[in-house]
Amino acid sequence: MKFFADTSDLDAIADLADLGMLDGVTTNPSIIAKSGKDFIPLIQEICKICPDAPVSAEVASTDFEIMMKEGDKLAAIADNIAVKVPLTEAGLKVCKNLSNNGTMVNVTLCFSPLQALLAAKAGAAFISPFVGRLDDIGLTGMDLIAEILNIYDNYPEFHTEVLVASVRHPQHIRESALLGADVVTCPPDVIKKLYKHPLTDNGLAGFVADWKKTGQSIL
Ligand code: E4P
Repeated sequence: MKFFADTSDLDAIADLADLGMLDGVTTNPSIIAKSGKDFIPLIQEICKICPDAPVSAEVASTDFEIMMKEGDKLAAIADNIAVKVPLTEAGLKVCKNLSNNGTMVNVTLCFSPLQALLAAKAGAAFISPFVGRLDDIGLTGMDLIAEILNIYDNYPEFHTEVLVASVRHPQHIRESALLGADVVTCPPDVIKKLYKHPLTDNGLAGFVADWKKTGQSIL
């Protein structure tokens, strides 16, 4: 399963790349607004850190013609850009056009399996179902992932990767891996939580203390 960083924080992205836990980056207009930085140069910087991994950059308009222009501009930033479009009628049309021209498209704001079916038919490289936001309204976000994976498995001609988005905690990642999702996109701190375990910390403290008692050095 691939790990994408759901952030525009350059230090956090570089840190995950060093750790070997970075397979891509996703951004959205809210993440860009939070950064306080200029969108295009920021995306260029992210693409430089991970030139071989998909970097999602989202269109801002909701109008087909303008979205197409924005999509072309974003796609021209680097070969690893995935243009992110909302799951609307216009967004699906943009997805079809850009995908036909060889641009990766990430269709975002997916909340139903049938929306995911449409995105696959439109040639999306990625579908982004938002599990956390479904949990927030009392539904079970992971049920949506299971249904989408089931549907996509029925149609081998679909090559759309299921990118689990709106991930809030390690349990979302665990369930995504058990279900066989292609990608999870997470805030970097959620990825960092995965290697932490109290028994690992306690066990290591014991080994360090006992090693000291031996008075030896390996080097
Ligand atoms: C990523 O592609 C999504 O935009 C993001 O995961 C949404 O997360 P949120 O629901 O925490 O805003």
